[in-house]
Amino acid sequence: ARGGLRPGLDPVYGPDPQCRAGAEHHHRRAPAAAGFHHPQLAEAVEIPSVSGDASFRAEVYKMGAWLKNKIAEVGCDVSSHDLGMQTLDGQEVQLPPVIVGEYGRDPSKKTVLVYGHYDVQPALKSDGWGTEPFELVHDTPTDRLIGRGSTDDKGPIMGWINVLEAHKALGLDVPVNLKFCFEGMEESGSVGLDEFVVEHKDKLFQHIDAVCISDNYWLGTKKPCVTHGLRGVAYYKLTISGPAHDLHSGVFGGMMHEPMTDLVQIMSTLVSPQAKILIPGLYDQVAPLTDEERQVYEDMEFEVADVDQCTGSSTTVSDSKTDVLMGRMRYPSLSLHGIEGAFAEPGSKTVIPHKVTGKFSIRLVPDMDPAKVTDAVQKHIEAEFAKLKTKNTMHLEEDHPGKPWVADTKHWNYEAAIAATEAVYGVRPDLTREGGSIPITLTFADALNANVLLLPMGRSDDGAHSTNEKLDLSNYIKGTQLLGTYLYKVASAAAS
Ligand code: BES
Ligand code: ZN
Repeated sequence: ARGGLRPGLDPVYGPDPQCRAGAEHHHRRAPAAAGFHHPQLAEAVEIPSVSGDASFRAEVYKMGAWLKNKIAEVGCDVSSHDLGMQTLDGQEVQLPPVIVGEYGRDPSKKTVLVYGHYDVQPALKSDGWGTEPFELVHDTPTDRLIGRGSTDDKGPIMGWINVLEAHKALGLDVPVNLKFCFEGMEESGSVGLDEFVVEHKDKLFQHIDAVCISDNYWLGTKKPCVTHGLRGVAYYKLTISGPAHDLHSGVFGGMMHEPMTDLVQIMSTLVSPQAKILIPGLYDQVAPLTDEERQVYEDMEFEVADVDQCTGSSTTVSDSKTDVLMGRMRYPSLSLHGIEGAFAEPGSKTVIPHKVTGKFSIRLVPDMDPAKVTDAVQKHIEAEFAKLKTKNTMHLEEDHPGKPWVADTKHWNYEAAIAATEAVYGVRPDLTREGGSIPITLTFADALNANVLLLPMGRSDDGAHSTNEKLDLSNYIKGTQLLGTYLYKVASAAAS
């Protein structure tokens, strides 16, 4: 079949050996129209749908329109939903639409809601990419598909389209009703999506039996997992301003309170080099660790070396696998991201920046509440600022908070995902929690009153958000088989 899939042993599909034809070309660009089995993914990657940069907004709309067509082509009723306006980079811009696809309305079948995002992180070749980021390249020696969005999150979205395309090509009945909810703002905090889902809970999103989120990765590089938790995130911008414009440090150094000096002092009080958050009271909000829970991390198939492989270093704060896993999955973390307004170019400019904004975020876990966290952050920063005895001014701003989410894995939805993973990969997946955030997850669980899980396609070393982002071809093919197989397992699961 043109989508690169054909049926193997029902209900698991096998890859088409024909698809390997031509694969001997090293670093061959996967052309959008060639007989490769990933031409559609190539087309998707070629649209630079970067949601966080206003100058790319037209590309995000283009990607939404492209996806809408694709979903219609494979037999869905599809609608595009406007979410209103947003201020970005000082401009008023239209939010990208939510694309909703509906496949089947058979009341005797279960209905699965699938979520993915069609926007991507920014990427420039000069960041350190070996290939053009917005061209999908099939690196044949490693059998990897390289390009921005290959694993986060265009590959997984195309996996679903491949599943429907294969069913269509083969005249097979799809065993469940499907609803797709694909958004274009995930990488920028899912602005507007919560309200949209709540507004449509009794309309578009009525009668959802289970939710499958397609937007995460394996814990390591060898063993698949099924994910039942995500951290939330609260993002902060701390601005210190003083002089009306930048100053010469030779002329004004020693006479002035410098905004950078104040900012760096405060930022250094947020987190220790051992990754402990130093803001008073934050850990009091964290759910206590039980012995049973610790055992789960001890039993998880994972090594510190897996992290080292992904980071290309040996720089974990602990050598204990359990501590490393808990640091990512069940404890909060605080990361310092950058300083806007600071001198960051090459060279030795002797400037005193007049206004600087430090950016940091806190990943949240149960039972932390974003509002309480922000109170604690505000109090701490005010106290530290007062200690500086500076005449500069300080302003703290909070951006897109998202709550943490953990699901009950004793549910037929999880049984289906586990059984599908066993059928495709021949191993029982670990049940994991993730350190990243997908803001809409908790809203799906609460507003639709449905069980939610994450079924990953890619691996931990795919380099989401990084340079040379990739999806192993085997993960693309088997991941597509996994999604299809999951639907059959859902259909045959005894709903409880
Ligand atoms: N796909 C990720 C979420 C993710 C990250 C899942 C790590 C599993 C492991 C998603 O696209 C993402 O990056 N989300 C942002 C959300 C933020 C902007 C609110 C994140 O986690 O930083
Ligand atoms: Zn993602």
